[in-house]
Amino acid sequence: MVSSMKIQLVLFFACSLFLQGTLGEVVCEDLPTDVCAFSIASSGKRCLLENFSTRDGKVEYQCRTSEVVVERMAEYIETDGCISACGVDRNSVGISSDALLEPQSTAKICSPACYENCPNIVDLYFNLAAGEGVFLPDLCQRQRTNPRRAMIELLSSGAAAAGPASVGSSQDVSAAPAPAYI
Ligand SMILES: *[C@@H]1O[C@H](CO)[C@@H](O)[C@H](O)[C@H]1NC(C)=O
Repeated sequence: MVSSMKIQLVLFFACSLFLQGTLGEVVCEDLPTDVCAFSIASSGKRCLLENFSTRDGKVEYQCRTSEVVVERMAEYIETDGCISACGVDRNSVGISSDALLEPQSTAKICSPACYENCPNIVDLYFNLAAGEGVFLPDLCQRQRTNPRRAMIELLSSGAAAAGPASVGSSQDVSAAPAPAYI
């Protein structure tokens, strides 16, 4: 099991080196759809996996350049190690903060294996959380003490900025703002 993962990792690195070597630079539109999500083009922009249905009703996928610029990181294809440590899915379509609303997903992103080793994915969720008015380190802190309600609490305390922070209040999930899509 462990050794097969190692082989996969080695293969993946070999493939990504090969890709970068042959293309010269990473262009989202040229990436295979299975390494599109969480990749960063040479331009520093995030790649975005999109789906669409063809005329005969089939769902197809394409990799596109988003307008999201990643500071201090360019030309990067995420490792399988980080994909699994952070519990994210290379086949996920679009970029959304939905994962932060799910305790299991937040736990993965906040886990030391992800949080301390996978700056690309952490940067992405840091910004998605910020888009909801939430500071990711705070979310991770709360996640450790009260995993079930961490995001909801932060969202409701943010929304109720005028009043006192509603820690422990039982606000309905539906009161949370809609997740941001970029
Ligand atoms: C694209 O993917 C989303 C999320 O997985 C799904 O809800 C949607 O129906 C898909 N759209 C098409 C055209 O297949």
